[in-house]
Amino acid sequence: MEYRLSVIGTGYLGVTHAACMSSLGYTVVGIDNDAQKIECLIRGELPFYEPGLEELLQTQLASGRLTFSTNYSDLDDCDVHFICVGTPQQQDSFAADLKYVESAFSALVPHLKKGSLVVGKSTVPVGTAQKLQEDLSRLAPQSDLAWNPEFLREGFAIEDTLKPNRLVVGVTNDKTEEILKAVFAPIISLGTPWVRADLPTSELVKVAANSFLATKISFINAMAEICEAAGGDVTVLATAIGYDPRIGNKFLQAGIGFGGGCLPKDIRAFMARAEELGAKQAVEFLREIDSINLRARQRVIDVVRGELSEDLSDYRIAVLGAAFKPESDDVRDSPALDISAQLLAAGATITVHDPKAAANAKKRFPALTFAESIDECVAGADLVLHLTEWKMYREIDPSHLASLVKTPRIIDGRNALDRDKWVAAGWTFHALGRKS
Ligand code: UDX
Repeated sequence: MEYRLSVIGTGYLGVTHAACMSSLGYTVVGIDNDAQKIECLIRGELPFYEPGLEELLQTQLASGRLTFSTNYSDLDDCDVHFICVGTPQQQDSFAADLKYVESAFSALVPHLKKGSLVVGKSTVPVGTAQKLQEDLSRLAPQSDLAWNPEFLREGFAIEDTLKPNRLVVGVTNDKTEEILKAVFAPIISLGTPWVRADLPTSELVKVAANSFLATKISFINAMAEICEAAGGDVTVLATAIGYDPRIGNKFLQAGIGFGGGCLPKDIRAFMARAEELGAKQAVEFLREIDSINLRARQRVIDVVRGELSEDLSDYRIAVLGAAFKPESDDVRDSPALDISAQLLAAGATITVHDPKAAANAKKRFPALTFAESIDECVAGADLVLHLTEWKMYREIDPSHLASLVKTPRIIDGRNALDRDKWVAAGWTFHALGRKS
């Protein structure tokens, strides 16, 4: 059967999924309530930065298979509907806000044709899928619901969608699993592991994975704190423990910690949901993971004060990086931007550079000054802070930069620069978890 697909919610996940499924040969309609976003996508413009995605969007639009609309009746003919809307943290608690999932679901239900399938991809608190399935059995009994968590990383979105390291589906019957196997056949044929789960397990897989990743990062940042206290070097420690295949060397980069639209809010929503389930203690450790993570930001500020003075008002600090990680223009819960804003609030004069995220960062913190180039950013600075490990910062010539700053003094908040090279060029070099 030739399936027609819809993707509801054209944010980061939705656009990537829609364009990738279209590239596999499917007819895909992308739906969003935000008319401006849809107009932008129809013109072939991506409202955010993701390597390769704008080109893919344009080729898929040109193929005629991919369309975008604000009108739910445009998905009347579709067989499989992917819900890809956001689940941000609630304003006044740790819990996830499900209003976009609920409104997408309500808007979709009247347009479900007989035998169609609703597939949730959004990251939701465990139990959400079960509840939606119960609603569906009342409102549209001839349709079914499944959950298919998404593990894509910003900066690698296309690769992670088309060549994921696993496909996980939460289903309640064989027929639904068969439909999903058929839809994902081109990806399964690459040898991608297929994991069938029940609905609650499929929801938990996602938050468990993100909790594990967050734990790994906070673990190495806790070791960085110990290394600082004991005079050790966390980068050597990470390399050494990483050779043990049971530990592995990925996600052991010590620094200012994790941010972005997923890890921080997912571990908080997990804690909130566990408490509702009466299993609060089981994930109580995540509170410490969150604290270690936030402490890493504070430690950089402490180092800045140690290098300059308690009173920062006479100092000019150049910040390299605003995005929560390289190859992204996303500044949601960005450690780099948070540190910049805190230093600004402490009275320092801050100039920020980021190759892609400056516009988003400016929207969030208009009081910060942004520079177009690295040279302009560091001119006359008393201190340089390296906070997002863009490749272009690793390629900086430290001797050239030394000629532009007032004092050649740098803090590497990501342990990504070549310390020997900077020191040889006359810089005072400080990094988290390493001796100065
Ligand atoms: C994450 C998950 O990796 C992905 O599977 C899920 O679908 C969404 O959330 P993403 O938010 O794109 O993806 O970022 P990720 O690459 O995981 O990095 C998260 C944060 O951790 C970044 O701020 C990054 O700088 C930081 N990080 C990562 C570290 O501080 N040290 C590391 O070793 C790795």
